[in-house]
Amino acid sequence: MHVRHLECSNCKREYPARQLHNVCTECGKPLLARYDLKRIAKFMTRQVLFGRAPSLWRYREVLPVTKERNIVYLGEGWTPLIQATALCGSLRMEAIYAKDEAHNPTQSFKARGMAVAVSMAKELGAKKLAAPSAGNAGGALAAYAARAGLEAFIFMPRDTPRANIVECELSGAHVTLVDGPITDCGAEVARRREANGWFDMSTLKEPYRVEGKKTLGYEIAEQSAWTLPDVIIYPTGGGTGLVGMWKAFEEMEALGWIDGKRPRMIVVQAEGCAPIVNAFLAGQRVAEEFANASTVASGLRVPKAIGDSLILDAVRQSGGTAIAVSDEELLSGARQLARTEGILAAPEGGACVPALRRLLDRGDIDRNERVVLFNTGAAIKYLDAFEPPGGAA
Ligand SMILES: Cc1ncc(COP(=O)(O)O)c(C=O)c1O
Ligand SMILES: [Zn+2]
Repeated sequence: MHVRHLECSNCKREYPARQLHNVCTECGKPLLARYDLKRIAKFMTRQVLFGRAPSLWRYREVLPVTKERNIVYLGEGWTPLIQATALCGSLRMEAIYAKDEAHNPTQSFKARGMAVAVSMAKELGAKKLAAPSAGNAGGALAAYAARAGLEAFIFMPRDTPRANIVECELSGAHVTLVDGPITDCGAEVARRREANGWFDMSTLKEPYRVEGKKTLGYEIAEQSAWTLPDVIIYPTGGGTGLVGMWKAFEEMEALGWIDGKRPRMIVVQAEGCAPIVNAFLAGQRVAEEFANASTVASGLRVPKAIGDSLILDAVRQSGGTAIAVSDEELLSGARQLARTEGILAAPEGGACVPALRRLLDRGDIDRNERVVLFNTGAAIKYLDAFEPPGGAA
């Protein structure tokens, strides 16, 4: 058995692993999968990974799926960690790397979470999967559900990039467009799920999307010869990737794979939707809902995240920070990555570039430090953001 039990991230109540669960029934907070890492450490060494296939399933001992036949595989994970050489040149640094998540199935890092969560839904017998999505998570859920032969019900804001709506429909998902942000979509899933027999796949409201996302942390370690970077800059909406990486670092230390040194975790958000940045600056552990959220980086338009305290705790424990950039800056960052590095980044990924520049100016990052930027998705899904109908941006 891979997962020993699920544990509430807040009140620490334990739940049995081999059943479908959403949030903690006591306190409503996210459940996290806990493994018997002491036992796993005995047979899973770093050397075991040599020769394994280049996908996130190379870490299968610390993933929840127990039967190989339940793995819903489309080629997820093991994306390139590429030196951003032009950016190094222009910022007078030596070690800026981009983790290019556009290489995943459905062209975003959301594939990681959905690959593992849909595999677990299949293993535990769910048939109808529902999720709110800012765009890319919906596309990933639709594809993995199609592959698994399960039904997907996706709720998206009406102004979600068209590519995301079309990919969901192409994959046979039932798409409902909602007049409002992802929080309204989440409320709609919560309201309808019981009557319809849907399993709620909202991020951090089911325990396994974060397990898929945590493989980002395992990969960065393995691709960096098991020394973590000094700084990670992460475009944050629901924050699942950041929370997942932080969990991965803890697990890898327990496995004896890395030492206790952690990267400073940096949250970057859009000025038009920056609830985590506001909470960080105000010294709070809980983020207030961000009113009238608006940004072209649709994945960052998350006015309220259920994992807010998990994100803020990780950022603070790591000695990191949180920073907001304008839409103009993040689009310009994405253009710069495309033009000078050949990395066609989503606007969300583009946000890492102005964030890095400002943190260097502020002295929060040193020029000799090793920095990993996350490109979380593909520019090509955001044609209207880069070139609005009726004229170039
Ligand atoms: C391209 C892209 N980047 C970043 C995010 C934010 O991810 P997270 O919810 O893990 O913070 C999203 C979420 O929709 C996204 O689609
Ligand atoms: Zn609880």
